[in-house]
Amino acid sequence: MQEEVFSGPMLASDAASAPEAHEVSILDNKHVKSSYARWAPVYDFVFALVMRPGRKAVAAAGARPGGRVLDVGVGTGLELPMFDRRTKLIGIDLSEPMLRRAQRRVGAKALSNVEGLAAMDATRLAFPDSHFDAVVAPYVLTVVPEPEASLDELVRVAKPGGQIILVNHVGAASGPMAWIESMLARCSAELGWRPEFPWSILGDWIDSNPQVRLLERRRLAPFGLFTLARIEKL
Ligand SMILES: C[S@@+](CC[C@H](N)C(=O)[O-])C[C@H]1O[C@@H](n2cnc3c(N)ncnc32)[C@H](O)[C@@H]1O
Repeated sequence: MQEEVFSGPMLASDAASAPEAHEVSILDNKHVKSSYARWAPVYDFVFALVMRPGRKAVAAAGARPGGRVLDVGVGTGLELPMFDRRTKLIGIDLSEPMLRRAQRRVGAKALSNVEGLAAMDATRLAFPDSHFDAVVAPYVLTVVPEPEASLDELVRVAKPGGQIILVNHVGAASGPMAWIESMLARCSAELGWRPEFPWSILGDWIDSNPQVRLLERRRLAPFGLFTLARIEKL
């Protein structure tokens, strides 16, 4: 089924143009799309370096030589060249301007292991159940309007025994950083992410979901600013 949808690298826009049924007060798909349309031209310049350790960690943990991996919120595709080339990759993102840059990167770097890029909402993935050997989402959970619904979808499309690998900035619980994050949170819609995202969103979701267990939670460079979480689908 999925092979019919993705016969090669491509940019499909059906899902992205579907009505936004998942609006929340701080971020919604409309804000995410307009925000990343603005970020797309400068995204690599601003975010390539500082978030590189997290992408490398995701690519190392998510590589499945001979297997198929879904990259949710692939953005401009900065992480795609970091995967073992024997891992077949499919990338999805809500933002077409971001995806167009990812498509260019795939061509420029001759990433023949990238089987497809498609515009799609993380809460409504157009893939069958238990389809991927691993699902990765670097720097995405703090950006999606509905993190729990997105996580449910990531688990649905992962095979039993497969892993969901996430990297995010987890907000400080207290202190000056927590104050700065709460100030920045007022601009979430304009920024396109939630600076104050607490671990409890992910932790509570894991605790309440009998289908998953946390394998690893690890702070990453720079300065432990980001956290990698590896989750197994049971
Ligand atoms: C901070 S960027 C991360 C991009 C890339 N993974 C990286 O490491 O640079 C977050 C990406 O998530 C995408 N995104 C936000 N909400 C989404 C959703 N509901 N479904 C799919 N992608 C979404 C944004 O369009 C954006 O490209």
